[in-house]
This record gives sequence, structure tokens and C-alpha cells, in this order.
Amino acid sequence: MLIPGCHIEDAPRFAWRGAHLDVARHVMPLPWLFRFIDVLALHRLNVLHLHLTDDQGWRFDVRAYPDLTRTGGWRRETRNPGEPEGDATPHGGFYTQDQLRSLVAHAASRGITVVPEIDLPGHVRALLAAYPEFGLGRNPVATTFGIFPEVLQLRDDTMTMVEQIFAEVLDVFPSPWIHIGGDECPRMQWRDDPVSARLASARGLSSVDELQRWFTGHLHRWLTAHGRRVVGWDEILDDGPVPDAVVMAWRDVRYGLEALRQGNEVVMAPGPFTYFDRYQSADPDEPLGQPGLVTWQDVVSYDPTAGIPADRLGGLLGVQGQLWSEYLHTPQEVEYMAFPRLALLAEVGWRGRVLAEGIEHRLDAHLARLGAAGVEYRPLTGPRPWHRGGSGRRRRQG
Ligand code: ACM
Repeated sequence: MLIPGCHIEDAPRFAWRGAHLDVARHVMPLPWLFRFIDVLALHRLNVLHLHLTDDQGWRFDVRAYPDLTRTGGWRRETRNPGEPEGDATPHGGFYTQDQLRSLVAHAASRGITVVPEIDLPGHVRALLAAYPEFGLGRNPVATTFGIFPEVLQLRDDTMTMVEQIFAEVLDVFPSPWIHIGGDECPRMQWRDDPVSARLASARGLSSVDELQRWFTGHLHRWLTAHGRRVVGWDEILDDGPVPDAVVMAWRDVRYGLEALRQGNEVVMAPGPFTYFDRYQSADPDEPLGQPGLVTWQDVVSYDPTAGIPADRLGGLLGVQGQLWSEYLHTPQEVEYMAFPRLALLAEVGWRGRVLAEGIEHRLDAHLARLGAAGVEYRPLTGPRPWHRGGSGRRRRQG
């Protein structure tokens, strides 16, 4: 477009301007994912991080292991914390490789890279429900939320299975970055398992507690050999450096600062500013969310460069907003939690910080645009009366 008498110079502050979406806890319909990508592009966001697997469901079709989706793609019901009973409603589904290829192509046409995440070696209840031989015990796909003890038993044949899964992932997703999860991986099962002890010893590790770092290093080498970069949640550095891994700092900003100090590249995704599954206000009419509050004003106040020495700023790839879907059952609920907070984070990603002056006025105008586009944003004045009568949406307890 030509605007006479006007010259615009503009460029993004950060290379990674991401939105994370958890399609494992609740599957989101494919047509809406296409639309969501359009809305991300409207905000000049350029990464969609798809969290494809977790304890409660496996959403990526793997031809070598069809039971991952056939069995691991379904849970019997869903029970929220504090509720005595589940909803007695099966939940499941998955995306075929061709569906995901078409999504990736659509995203690329909008300047967006889809970064796939296969969350290992913890958060594997769905995988192990399908293929219990790769773990330590037999359990169904999880119907509740939290951190489960189940982990992969990291034998050589388990690693072959993991590589086969990632080979199919690479075939579908051309992204330079591949996310291997790595968060919240308990060590109890390894500590109680003589086979894991033998594996640790044979690999020159001083204890089973180093198995996760070994696992990350193995996938790092494998992905590097296949021309990709490994991305992991910040726990991947807990047991020592993993040079060259991209670290997604979620538990706290300080894990990102430490990763930068060690020379890793970092995507800042800290809970207090970017976990958009947390409450947007203290209003008791807010829908059920994860404990904690992330207001839109918190996002306005966010400076991802805070505390980073000048000589480490180059390692800061960017920022990302998280949409975990334990309590997000539908696209409308995702949009409600995403906006306006993700719109503000997009400005952080583009400009470096939100321009606070006049922000409410600008935001009002922007929300009107989103409304016209049919996006179910949360109004600045407070929670929306929820439209879906009798839905799975529940008010917060107590
Ligand atoms: C995470 O929130 N478990 C990365």
C-alpha cells in the first residue's frame, strides 16, 4: 500500500514473538486453529508453539506408533482439582499429519512458524497408556491434572522409539526449532528402578538424577544432526549446562537470566507475566483458571530485558504467552484468556515494551477491532456473561 507523504520505518524488537497453545488437555478444532493463526498474524506474532502431548492426551498422529493417538488420544473423563467427581464425559481426538501440514503451510503464509512440542521424558501418561513397555507401570490416560510420577524408562529401545516419533515430527514441521518439553519430570520412578540405575551407570552418570540431562543431550545431538535446534522448558538446565539448547524460562525470570549467563538462547515465558491460563482479575465471576493473577496491566509493566546484562541481551530471542488448556474447553474460552493479554504481549515482542501512555484508549480501540473479527476477548470492564449455557465451564471454587 502506498501512503503519500508518509515514510514508515519499523522493525520488531524480538525475533521470537510467540503464542503457546496446549491442545493436549483439550483438543481444539482444526478450522479454528487456522483462524487463530490469522488473529496471531494480525498482532505480528510469528511463532505458534503447539503443545501436542501430555498426560491427558496425545494429539500428533505417529504412523510408527498408531496407538499413541488410538489409545493415548482419549481419556475416560475429566476431573478438575477439588471436585469430588469427574464429568463422566470422554474427551479426545488428534490431528493427522496432513492436517498439521496444511496448518503449517497456512501459518507460513502468514509469517508464522509452528513449533511443535512433544513433552518428554515426564508428562507421558498418554504415551505410556498406549505403550506401557516404555515406562514403569501401567496406567490409563490421566483424567486429572497435576504432576504425575510416570516417566519414560530411558532404555536404548525407548530412545529408538523417541527418535522415530521425532523423525515423523520433523517430516511435518519444517520449524528450525523443535520443543522436547522437559518440564516437571519427577525422579522417583528412576530412583526405585534397578534398570534405570544400571542405565545411568553404563552411561557414566553418577546417579539416575542425571538421566534427564543425558536424555536432553541425546536429543540435542540427534536434532542437531537433523539440522534443527532443541528447545526445552527451563528445567532442562537443572542438572547442568546443555550448550546450544534454547531455554524457555517459565518458572521464573531468574532461570532465563541464568540460562543467558550460561550462553544459551532464551525465550522468556515467565508465569507472572505470560501465563494466560491464570486469572485476569479477582472478580469472583472470572471463569475457573490456574491459581494466580496475571492482569493486563501486569503485561503492560513487563520488560523482558530487565536484569539482563548488556553483553547477554543478544541471547534473548523473545517472549511468549502461554495458553494451557486444563480449564479451556473451547476456542471461545481460549480467546477469552488470550485477549487482551496476548495483544499486549505482542506489543512487548514488537516494540520491546508496551507504550503505557494512553494504553487504555488504544486497547479499547483494538478490542473493538477484535470484536469485529469475532474474537471473544475479555472486556476491560470485567468478565463476559458466558454464552454457552450448561457448558463444561465452571466458576471458580470458594
Ligand atoms: C509448565 O508450565 N509446566 C511448563
